Amino acid sequence: MSTNVLPPKNRKVLVTAALPYSNNRPHVGHLGGAYIPADTYVRYLRMTGADVRFVCGSDDHGVALMITAEKEGRSPAEVANYYREKQGQDFAGMGISFDIYSGTSTCPLHHKESQQFFKSMFDKGFFEKQSSRQFFDEARSAFLPDRYVKGECGFCGTADQNGDQCENCGKILDVDSLKNARSTLSGELAVVKETVHWFLDLSKFGAQVERWLETAKVREQTKAYVKGLLSTGLVKRAMTRDISWGIPVPLDDAEAKGKVLYVWFDAPIGYVSFTKELCEREGSGAAAADAWWRSKDAEVYHFIGEDNTVFHCIIWIAMLSAEGSMRLPDGVIVNHFFNMQVPGGAVEKISKSRGTAVWIGDYLEAGGDPDSLRYYLTSIASEKARSVYKPDDLEHRHNGELADTLGNLVNRITSFTIKHCGPSVPEVDESKLADVDRALDSSLRSAFEDATRELEGHSFKAALERIMEFARQCNKYVDEKAPWTSRKTDMEATKVTLACVLRAIHGLGVMLLPFIPNAAAKIVSAFGREPSQARWVDAVEARLGGAPLSQPPILFQKIGAPKQ
Ligand code: MF3
Ligand code: ZN
Repeated sequence: MSTNVLPPKNRKVLVTAALPYSNNRPHVGHLGGAYIPADTYVRYLRMTGADVRFVCGSDDHGVALMITAEKEGRSPAEVANYYREKQGQDFAGMGISFDIYSGTSTCPLHHKESQQFFKSMFDKGFFEKQSSRQFFDEARSAFLPDRYVKGECGFCGTADQNGDQCENCGKILDVDSLKNARSTLSGELAVVKETVHWFLDLSKFGAQVERWLETAKVREQTKAYVKGLLSTGLVKRAMTRDISWGIPVPLDDAEAKGKVLYVWFDAPIGYVSFTKELCEREGSGAAAADAWWRSKDAEVYHFIGEDNTVFHCIIWIAMLSAEGSMRLPDGVIVNHFFNMQVPGGAVEKISKSRGTAVWIGDYLEAGGDPDSLRYYLTSIASEKARSVYKPDDLEHRHNGELADTLGNLVNRITSFTIKHCGPSVPEVDESKLADVDRALDSSLRSAFEDATRELEGHSFKAALERIMEFARQCNKYVDEKAPWTSRKTDMEATKVTLACVLRAIHGLGVMLLPFIPNAAAKIVSAFGREPSQARWVDAVEARLGGAPLSQPPILFQKIGAPKQ
């Protein structure tokens, strides 16, 4: 079968997913926001033959982690190591196929990489040393950077906001725009005091960000949001902090003593240091990381949740432009968070403190199927607005779409074929195909082309919907052709039906590998093929006539009691 839409060849693609803070275990919001879309894309790219690396690790620094450590009576390093290990397990359990999962406090190259990055920007004159006003806790005699203070957003009035950015309106907050700020250490009202920091004047990079936006692959909505921020004007932001946990400011200056790099300065550099660590591990040497970050031939994509937009689309672009030796990302794929329907029906923001989070670890421990959650999160992940995670809906789709539409089709056709034609895909003469059979083939081809296009455009929900639409077409075809009836009178025609629908099923298996890797692997294996060797084009190009056919295990057991 020939096809017009094919994935581009010989690409070299580095994909990153936001580095999660290591003071937390991942919940469904994190997964659906960054890790599942990134993993789906990576699995697809690998199947196209692209040279791909999928890089992630934990974001170990910052104030939030210090607060957790203080609360739990442990050192920041202990907390980071504990959660990093849990995150690694949870991601692995969900089939997130990182090539490396490192950490900003443990990656042996990260301190040096971040300090060099800072130094190089410093040498080029991009930092302004300035005394600035910061919140200060008099009871604890400590400066209170970002998350050590909470108050009202001076722009939209939302209460309970951290000192860095308003969760509601997205505006950057500072000592003047955060109202009635209280220290989260002592609970006292914070005072404002002077301290010296190194500032990056983001307004100098407005033009670079704008130029980058013109060609970068970012969703329309992200583009509009960033343009909006550019038009209200960019400000100076301190890239250093007055805390003890972090990467020391690498300057020979008495006033830099005791200060560390801002966590949002060092974290994205983790993408670079982890790539180097990976290259060393692969035996190609840290210098090989240049092939990813300094060559024109590679592409870099960052997958992030919506709250990370400013940092990736403005600050990181400014940092890279200032440092100057590395490529700017080719795309930043921003996904929305999920709200959560709590028992009783109310829809809330996913929040650890309110207990509305669904922890991945709990889901997996309770025997939840990673494929069902991957499927569900992809299918509700709107690119335009926050979607609502509803546990009942997950069950509903698992039963209706995965178990019935897909699992049942695969199961009944393989068992029927094996029973009546033996354990191989019937070989048929192509000239025996009727219009209705050819129509199924062309539906497969158009589903493949559409899914390829959607995946290339990072529209994972649309790609999955298109593939499942094809699964429904297959069911319709089988129902119309009724092989269980035709076999009594015309075995040859029945074999044509089975050969056509088996080709379609194999195509479904291949196209679903990036989305639901476990179940899809079972489909592909039923044809005697090795799922890890499957190429994306096999969905339409594999020759299956005569291929061995075995009965795959049940793909999806139904869950839950029947709903009234
Ligand atoms: N730790 C941040 C968060 O969880 C994400 C950091 S992404 C990176 O929101 F680019 F800085 F690495
Ligand atoms: Zn606000």
